Amino acid sequence: MLKPLVVANWKMNPATSREAKKLFEVTKKAAAKARTITLVVAPPALYLRELAKGRAGGRVSFCVQSAEASAGGAHTGEISMRQAKDAGASYALVGHSEVRARGMSNTDAGRQVAAALAANMRPILCVGEAKRSPSGAHFAFVAEQLKAGFEQVPASKLSDIIVAYEPVWAIGGEETMSPREMHEMAIFIRKTIVETHGPKGISTRVIYGGSVNEDNADEMLRDGDVSGILVGHVSVDVARFTALLSTLSNI
Ligand code: PGA
Repeated sequence: MLKPLVVANWKMNPATSREAKKLFEVTKKAAAKARTITLVVAPPALYLRELAKGRAGGRVSFCVQSAEASAGGAHTGEISMRQAKDAGASYALVGHSEVRARGMSNTDAGRQVAAALAANMRPILCVGEAKRSPSGAHFAFVAEQLKAGFEQVPASKLSDIIVAYEPVWAIGGEETMSPREMHEMAIFIRKTIVETHGPKGISTRVIYGGSVNEDNADEMLRDGDVSGILVGHVSVDVARFTALLSTLSNI
């Protein structure tokens, strides 16, 4: 069985490289004790190379928070998947809701997934609706995001992609969606990928993000039908993230 994946999304934190190194040292120590999980740290891209140098002996991989599909050229302010890989990232978040809110489209997400695979990185495609409706329109919304995100992915590459379901309404607080509802969504995600990519889609890795903390991570991993979690604000709080990882030692 795959070890649960814990992705620490630092977002635009911390403020200096010095603080980032400190945070990474503590994170690395906590990860060394948490042998039951695979830890992936997603720092601001500027810190990737330096932190990756300090990973020696640690069991941590790195992830870029966002990178462009183009290989190079006139894209002021952007970085490419290849550049992120060169700096030490082996995973790439694609389509985080905070990036989508700045204008990224479903088609862009599909291109970035393909570019990450081409750079030998594992894309973590983020999907999730802004609000839920009793009519179930959120399922159609997520299906659209998945179809576009997987459009250029051959069935042989399915095991390299991770889908992170992050309902936007559940991000940034202290309460996740219910594991039962996550279970329902995980089934829907796999079913959608089976429809477009055939039976192999059933084994697509699905993880959950949105207000995961030291009190709810364990329950989500046990009952939410997910094989990982994406942790935002709690991952930059040393005490809370260490506590979170230690609750997973019996998973
Ligand atoms: P949160 O963020 O854990 O602060 O809710 C999760 C995310 O946006 O990836």
